[in-house]
Amino acid sequence: MTPSPAHIDHPSGLRLPDEAIATVQSLLLDWFARNGRDLPWRRTRDPYRVLVSEIMLQQIQVARAIPFYEAFVERFATVEALAAAALADVIRVWKDLGRYRRIVYLHRTANIVVADFGGSVPDDPAVLRTLPGVGPYTAGAIACFAYELDVAFVDTNMKRVLHRVVLGPERLERPAKDAELLELAARLLPTSRAWRWNSALMDLGATVCKARNPACGTCPLRTACRSAAEFLSGRASPIAVRKTPPYRFEESDRFYRGRVLATLRSLGDDGADPSGIDLRDLGRAIRGDFQDEHLDWLGGLVRGLSKDGLAVLNEERPVYDAEPVARVKLP
Ligand code: ADE
Repeated sequence: MTPSPAHIDHPSGLRLPDEAIATVQSLLLDWFARNGRDLPWRRTRDPYRVLVSEIMLQQIQVARAIPFYEAFVERFATVEALAAAALADVIRVWKDLGRYRRIVYLHRTANIVVADFGGSVPDDPAVLRTLPGVGPYTAGAIACFAYELDVAFVDTNMKRVLHRVVLGPERLERPAKDAELLELAARLLPTSRAWRWNSALMDLGATVCKARNPACGTCPLRTACRSAAEFLSGRASPIAVRKTPPYRFEESDRFYRGRVLATLRSLGDDGADPSGIDLRDLGRAIRGDFQDEHLDWLGGLVRGLSKDGLAVLNEERPVYDAEPVARVKLP
């Protein structure tokens, strides 16, 4: 049977009548009008600021990102200012936000926007995706949040909300495909209201439809949701977040990358030599138990940072050679 154009059929076989879509849209948009979060990047449509916020928010909690975002756009108020800045200065302003490769991408993207796009961040998601560090999610978010285009995209929170509302509780043994959820997102997107709709999906996922403790009792979508009754009655539970092995961030290379960059940023403070630091001194600065046996490891870490464009190694000899060890500084 040919599907009726008045209905939306989901690839999973689920039928989504137009009325059901309209109900979900109006419930969520009404809720958002009263409960939407007031976030600094939502008070602007400046594509440069939206770009900065979306790069920062990749895997970083909103509350943690806010002060960094504000400091960053105050220091680099325009894409031209960011492009003209030395990467070392950008790294300094990024402080301890982590995921440092992103700064390099953001700086490169700013340079490309200035050189190839006359200083205007593109609005076409396909073009945005050609920029360093901009994937499908970020491209969609910029097109929607800066240009208010009707573009669907999904992050983890949005996927969870869509899954629960339309498909039912998540099933570990039958995870939905990203393409399926993206298609669902596109079909639910209300015309001309993508900015509010996508913000609302994010906010519902962050504050109500939480991964482990969904607040179904107070959810605006509870009457329209395919999971709420099951969660409320205990017939289904939110799937346990995957257990990771005991892990100490303080022992990870990502932690030490941050420590290295913090040390390099502070070169020149307190009369220290701004031209660089010996690998061994760097090792002592980042960990109290540093020994020569750690030089190989530290050399690898620093070479990784150098490959990412975050540090410069003055390698008269390979860093893992004996004396003298290499000097390191910010780019
Ligand atoms: N996470 C990623 N982008 C976001 C945004 N624009 N608002 C809130 N949370 C987000």
